[in-house]
Amino acid sequence: MIVCVCKRVSDREIARYAHAGMGFDDIQMELGIATQCGRCEDCARSVVAQCSVGQPLAALRQEGCACAAGPALASA
Ligand code: FES
Repeated sequence: MIVCVCKRVSDREIARYAHAGMGFDDIQMELGIATQCGRCEDCARSVVAQCSVGQPLAALRQEGCACAAGPALASA
């Protein structure tokens, strides 16, 4: 699922960085998430929190993130 429409970054890509131990600020700098319109920031932070080291990947798959299906995709 695309989290950041502006930069075309998926939840899986964000999760991969979070599982590697990177925090939101580092991931933002690396991928550019939440650096344009900013509508993806809450969702991206949620993905990072769910996927931080020690958190099971299943949590992301089960809970998902409804915000990316909202206004961000509507403008895509
Ligand atoms: S959707 Fe991520 S900066 Fe616009």
